[in-house]
Amino acid sequence: MSTLDYLGTVTLTVNGRRTEIAARADMRLSRVLREELGLTGTKVGCDAGDCGACTVLIDGEQACACLVPAGQLEGRRITTVEGLGEDPLGRALQDAFHRHGAAQCGICTPGMLMASLDLLRREEPLDTQAIEAALGGVLCRCTGYLKIYEAVLDAGRALGTDEPPANGALGDEPVEEEALPEASAAEEVRAEGFGEAVLAEDTLAEYTLADEALTQEPVGDGSLGEDAIAEEGIGEDALGEAEQEFAPETDAVADAALEPVGRRVPRLDGRSKLDGSEIYGADAAPPESLWLRAIRSPHASARFRIGDLGAFVSNQPGIFRVLTAADVPGENGFGIFPELKDQPVFAEGQVRYRGEAVAAVIGERAAIDAFDIGRFPISWEPLEPLFGPEAALAPGAPVVHGSRPDNVLVRGLVERGDTKNALARAAHLAEGNFLTSFVEHAYVEPEAGYARRVGKRIEIFASTQAPYMDRDEVARVLGIAPTDVRILPSACGGGFGGKLDVSVQPMLAIAAWLMRVPVRCTYTRPESMAASTKRHPASIAARAGCDARGIILAYESVADFDTGAYSSWGPTVAGRVPVHAAGPYAVANVRNRSRAIYTNGPVAGAFRGFGVPQAAIAHEALYDELAERCGLDRLEFRLRNALKAGDETATGQRLRASAGLASCLEALRPQWRSFLDEAQRRNSQAGVSRRGVGIACMWYGIGNTALPNPSRMRIALTREGRLIFFNGAVDIGQGSTTVLTQIAAQALGLPVEAFTLVGGDTDATFDAGKSSASRQTFVSGKASERAALALRAEILRRANAGEEAKLELEGSRLTVTTFGRSTAIELAALPAGRDGIVLEGIGDFDPPTEPLDAKGQGTPYATYGFAAQIVALDVDMALGTVRLDRFVAAHDVGRAVNPTLVEGQIHGGIAQGIGLALMEEYVPGRTENLHDYLIPTFGDVPRIDILMVEDREPLGPFGAKGVGEPALVPAAPAILGAIRHATGVSIREVPALPHRIRAALEAGGLARES
Ligand code: FES
Ligand code: FES
Repeated sequence: MSTLDYLGTVTLTVNGRRTEIAARADMRLSRVLREELGLTGTKVGCDAGDCGACTVLIDGEQACACLVPAGQLEGRRITTVEGLGEDPLGRALQDAFHRHGAAQCGICTPGMLMASLDLLRREEPLDTQAIEAALGGVLCRCTGYLKIYEAVLDAGRALGTDEPPANGALGDEPVEEEALPEASAAEEVRAEGFGEAVLAEDTLAEYTLADEALTQEPVGDGSLGEDAIAEEGIGEDALGEAEQEFAPETDAVADAALEPVGRRVPRLDGRSKLDGSEIYGADAAPPESLWLRAIRSPHASARFRIGDLGAFVSNQPGIFRVLTAADVPGENGFGIFPELKDQPVFAEGQVRYRGEAVAAVIGERAAIDAFDIGRFPISWEPLEPLFGPEAALAPGAPVVHGSRPDNVLVRGLVERGDTKNALARAAHLAEGNFLTSFVEHAYVEPEAGYARRVGKRIEIFASTQAPYMDRDEVARVLGIAPTDVRILPSACGGGFGGKLDVSVQPMLAIAAWLMRVPVRCTYTRPESMAASTKRHPASIAARAGCDARGIILAYESVADFDTGAYSSWGPTVAGRVPVHAAGPYAVANVRNRSRAIYTNGPVAGAFRGFGVPQAAIAHEALYDELAERCGLDRLEFRLRNALKAGDETATGQRLRASAGLASCLEALRPQWRSFLDEAQRRNSQAGVSRRGVGIACMWYGIGNTALPNPSRMRIALTREGRLIFFNGAVDIGQGSTTVLTQIAAQALGLPVEAFTLVGGDTDATFDAGKSSASRQTFVSGKASERAALALRAEILRRANAGEEAKLELEGSRLTVTTFGRSTAIELAALPAGRDGIVLEGIGDFDPPTEPLDAKGQGTPYATYGFAAQIVALDVDMALGTVRLDRFVAAHDVGRAVNPTLVEGQIHGGIAQGIGLALMEEYVPGRTENLHDYLIPTFGDVPRIDILMVEDREPLGPFGAKGVGEPALVPAAPAILGAIRHATGVSIREVPALPHRIRAALEAGGLARES
């Protein structure tokens, strides 16, 4: 630090405590809090005033801590999330967020809470506009904002400042069911079991007691039909019936605790997200850690030479080492598939995308911060980059990887029947070309972590979705055994597929391994956006035909995906899309082809849906056109063709159960009719705005495509009576920790709060597989159920008790009661292993799938999620802008293990679908920050009503399957269908930005002047 930079001592008050800091010119409040005072509850998502994650109160008013220089802090009063508990309003907010499931990954939550506190302290009427205005500067990528809105309104109710939203834009008043004493999850469960909810007159769908009624049903045969639909907006009579079902009864008290599946158990890992104590990748590291900063390519394609590093290091005080490809102890390559480790940790003489790492400098924090990248000794020879599949496929195009002379990484095919013949005899045809863009995950937490060497082993603490995959990647890079790598996942501040690939891990591991000191790193926001994977841009040409009655006869498509510079999850996208490309319909003749194509674009990887959202944009647009040509209502057309149990899919797989698309569509029908009527009424009036209504369906194979997909769970009892759930599934905000514990508790027969949770450590937990492909509830949930049943069987065997036995755990005494006869097992008296464990159950599950043959025929997935969504929106015919009015989403989730968490997934998925449809377009070099790259904010997500359809999956735990990706898939095609309905023009390139809509209107002679 230069003495010129020293500003002197600054005295401020933080959370009521007077504090003195030695201020430097380069210090901002976020850094003062996190690094000088250890208050890491204040998060840094962008360091540029764009995300709001760092929001604190300064003298009572919200401000972005990352923008406030330390020199301006003299005499100021700062309140951070760590001080929230001191304030009754703050506690009310924390409790409301907890009850409503308003924190998913939790990285935005401190900022949201502080902005909310500012709002509530003003004691002004709370309405949609006030909440939007106060919280609009804080981005959330997980929740879709609606649960946050409900929580703030709920907390405001205590003040008496709430007013009904002026236009219901974000939803109706939340129910008061959550006015329960806040303590353990079990208390919450019991209270809900009594049906104490008081429903506001016009309540949101997700809080109807019908939902509760539904989720109480025992696991049945999966054929739930109409009864399985938890209707939204149901009338008072229906509510009355539901309430009667849950009149308090003595027996229900015990059952509620022992049957947590289907209940709104608050997130078990939720409290730490609300008080600032959750530890994310950037929040912790050994104090002696050095810092690492990657040197990245400014070019999309270039050759390079690195100069004299010895001379460079000796001239850089505080920089101790530079790492390059020559320093990689093992294999300088990583990637998802064993045969495709094509991405180097450090490029070797050639870079293939802008943002690729070529080296890393390691040193003291101040030196790394002050490091001028322009002084790094490297010379570049830029090459003509290949942007887009067309350029990459052109004759004579440069070759991105020598192993693929045609630049085609991989091809996919699903072929069934005779598409050519079927299209030739179709009464109606529709066809089109569709384009989508690179989409950025925009998780609010940038990649971060640290590594340290422990003897002959390496430990890595970092944000990840796939700890065991990380373990194996790091082992290969270091040239050591996987068992010598320990991965300790930090809390994950959002992933959505983007943290399935390694990021900081290999570089940190090499640095810590070679230097024998801990090394840490946090990506800057621009670095995160430039270096990380993206959603694959797609170019899809598709054609569909139906008969005169609207039965789809054939569908064919060719989908080219820009997989960027390295393979990542390109093969998965190319393999999954042909299976799903014709949509969730019974189509006898299909021919779907795909290609993942290497270019010099960013690495395209996994992003919520693995290409299925792009494919759905194409098939749903064509089916809208076919419906119109047949003279059929769009919903009726889909209902006529919907896949159902007993049908065969495009891969020839016969669906045996749990195919609830028709129930979803039936559930939507009343709202669909009312939306259409309203649109007709509005459009009969003059004006520049036109109302449109759209509908889209989706299906989604749960888990890996035609590949093994195992998970293993362990539940154990110690001699002291601790019930430990060793759960290796990473909770990235979706709620798997809570859901899997609910499943385990119900299968074992002990309450949720009896469990001690151990997760996030490859030394302590088995491999549960990655948190992706919407698989954890289905796959790891089943493994959890089996582990619990195995432990229960062992307990019953020791007590010589039958299946009907009830368990009770008190201290080290486990009591087994059957038909009034109790047997006590004294755990302390049982022989224990070194870890003190006396009884355990291990559960495995690997969904039954089959490889696909050369024509893509087989059983790629054991089960599928289904959904249909409708949307109403307004298009400004002069400006081309779109205002979303309302979504209704009907989802067949098999069984909603935790309805609050399912709703949160659906809200968040739709919000990301809105971004895909209307605003998000990543352009390397242009939108590498959250200022230029726009994601939905508080005001962009409309009211979303949810209809839960539970068509039980016999293979799933208590009938459950997944919902994470299904929530996103139909949103964009529904929006595009609604734009077409409103305007008469089809938008086939997303995002449907105003200039694209306006251009389409002009081309069709439909544009108006404002
Ligand atoms: S970190 Fe301050 S606004 Fe993003
Ligand atoms: S919960 Fe808001 S970003 Fe994850």
